[in-house]
Amino acid sequence: MGQRMRKKRHFDERMAASEKWLLARGVGGILNMKEAAENYRALVDYAAVFGNNNPVDLEIGCGKGGFVCELARRNPDRNFIALEMVSNVVISAMENAEKAGLENVRFLNIRAECLECYIPEGSIENIYLNFSTPLPKLGYATQRLTHRNFLEIYKKLLKKGGRVIQKTDNRDFFDFSLGEYEAAGLQTENVTYDLHGQGNPTWNIVTEYEKKWVEQGLPIHRVEAIK
Ligand SMILES: C[S@@+](CC[C@H](N)C(=O)[O-])C[C@H]1O[C@@H](n2cnc3c(N)ncnc32)[C@H](O)[C@@H]1O
Repeated sequence: MGQRMRKKRHFDERMAASEKWLLARGVGGILNMKEAAENYRALVDYAAVFGNNNPVDLEIGCGKGGFVCELARRNPDRNFIALEMVSNVVISAMENAEKAGLENVRFLNIRAECLECYIPEGSIENIYLNFSTPLPKLGYATQRLTHRNFLEIYKKLLKKGGRVIQKTDNRDFFDFSLGEYEAAGLQTENVTYDLHGQGNPTWNIVTEYEKKWVEQGLPIHRVEAIK
């Protein structure tokens, strides 16, 4: 059996083993997203999934899930949905949740562009964006997760007073994001250009990427943008 075949089987087995933590895998790719949004809706029924009506927060681009799993562990009275488009990566995140025995976190293996197919309008209190890919080339600006097109989606999903909470090491991306929040009519609060200036605040959960940048001495920027 070829290496690729074994890899695929291993992938399928891991995906199946984590099934309990997976709410959905994306329909279609980026090209037929619009069609997906119009024809395929599978809105998450929170009460059925979590067995309670606790508040729900969302992380977009969760990577291997270290942040959301620790947040879920610290906040057993809240529910968390984490979104990651790369299948191999979301598997690691789900395995983390399983190891930690977390009942209040679930995952979506979809692109952020498809969020409205799964997340009910006005149902989210906080959206976490941790070290989203900065995509510095101008031609990719619309794909940055803080571009105003995405902010319009987030505004639909957030409750009134809900927040987008962003961390990044990239100053240009941060400044771009601050401009987009303003353009989208989101009020910004608790803006810092050096979150770790006096050492890591105890409330701050350090993500996988954050650890890497802090070890390299890079300042971390953080903002909360309020609907
Ligand atoms: C630089 S990593 C940061 C991972 C993690 N949040 C951290 O701080 O360690 C960005 C992650 O966002 C995911 N991502 C980027 N664009 C996305 C999109 N449009 N929809 C869903 N996930 C996305 C990538 O696959 C990647 O895992």
